[in-house]
Amino acid sequence: MKALLLEKVHIVAKNLLQDADFSVQEHAPSETGASLISKLNDVDVLGIRSKSLVTKDVIKVCPDLKAIGAYCIGTNQIDLEQATKSGIAVFNAPFSNTRSVAELVISEIIALSRGLFTKAFQMHQGVWNKSSNGCYEVRGKRLGIIGYGHIGSQLGILAESLGLKVHYYDIQKKLPLGNAVSESTLKKLLSNSDFISLHVPLTEQTQNMIGEKELEIMKKGSFLINASRGTVVDLQALKKFLKSGHIAGAAIDVFPKEPKENLDEFSSPLQKLENVILTPHIGGSTEEAQEAIGVEVSESLIKYINTGDSSGAVNFPHLHLRTLQEGFRILNVHKNVPGVLGAINKIISEYNVNISSQQLATNSIIGYLAMDLEKKPKQEVIEKIQDLETSIQTRIIF
Ligand code: NAI
Repeated sequence: MKALLLEKVHIVAKNLLQDADFSVQEHAPSETGASLISKLNDVDVLGIRSKSLVTKDVIKVCPDLKAIGAYCIGTNQIDLEQATKSGIAVFNAPFSNTRSVAELVISEIIALSRGLFTKAFQMHQGVWNKSSNGCYEVRGKRLGIIGYGHIGSQLGILAESLGLKVHYYDIQKKLPLGNAVSESTLKKLLSNSDFISLHVPLTEQTQNMIGEKELEIMKKGSFLINASRGTVVDLQALKKFLKSGHIAGAAIDVFPKEPKENLDEFSSPLQKLENVILTPHIGGSTEEAQEAIGVEVSESLIKYINTGDSSGAVNFPHLHLRTLQEGFRILNVHKNVPGVLGAINKIISEYNVNISSQQLATNSIIGYLAMDLEKKPKQEVIEKIQDLETSIQTRIIF
């Protein structure tokens, strides 16, 4: 199998793929369009980060491509619908930077509570300002977490170890970890918390979730932290409440408009306000997270290629397949229409091959079939299956 890794994916990815007998090529820049197509000749597996664009046009002319690894969290840079239609499984690393985000938020809770950034800034300007006014321990304070998913719940555990009381609000019923308390309404959470930290995805419901009305409800002197998505907080409204002192400080890592490249100009209504920490979307940006992403995505790709296991794929029906100890496995991706299984079984039975197990999963576009056989089928069996009008990709592993 041939893999192409773009955009300086962590070295661990290359090592893992090579250990699994992939031939690996690397190419540091991001790629798109014709230039990307020219590099995908014979490539079975493509690894990218967030900047390469794998469009419909690219996918359509790369018949050898079997899987794409997005060595990041998001998959917006890939035309997932076309990838699915072309039988290409796409994997990402949704949890590899969870801990990094939670740790950043912990540091911000303490930094905000002690006015750390204002004091450090004054020192750099030659101003000595030793005072305990408005500086607090975080022990015993209440942290309100909005969105108790992977990051929110991890944050809750870390915060409890510092003595914070953790409350959360989530639209789904979630198991409270440690001593965390679930709040029935957002209003209750906002009105009783000393710190509010947002960990929701961007949806219609979460767009501008924190605006004037919500900031008004928040406790006077409380702090707001947003490391989720930029448009979840109305920054003009937040500015107003920071200036009035109703909100004592904020830490913002994500913005409605973020510059594309490092060193590009950045502007925000929150610039130059006291006790406001602005960071360039670095919640998940740690060496550990990059390495974890390299491991998680590579392992998914290797498992998919070597066993057909599609667990965790963002666009594919999930088949949890064991490693093949003996025999042969045919993997067939097909259009999700009636009668496919019957047609494939008919071909197999014509050649008198015994099927030892069969698994099928579907989504709205495709079906994914794994069929274990006791003896090796003739090459023409694979060809006949692939020649079915419904077949998209067919391969055999052993
Ligand atoms: P997740 O999917 O595990 O958790 C999100 C939680 O929010 C779920 O429990 C969901 O039920 C809840 N939720 C959804 N809509 C809600 C609503 N209207 N009200 C209350 N709760 C709601 O996601 P995860 O991995 O914890 O990530 C959370 C956010 O963090 C995402 O927006 C992600 O983009 C962002 N993120 C930011 C990073 C950074 O560098 N700053 C890095 C990684 C993720």
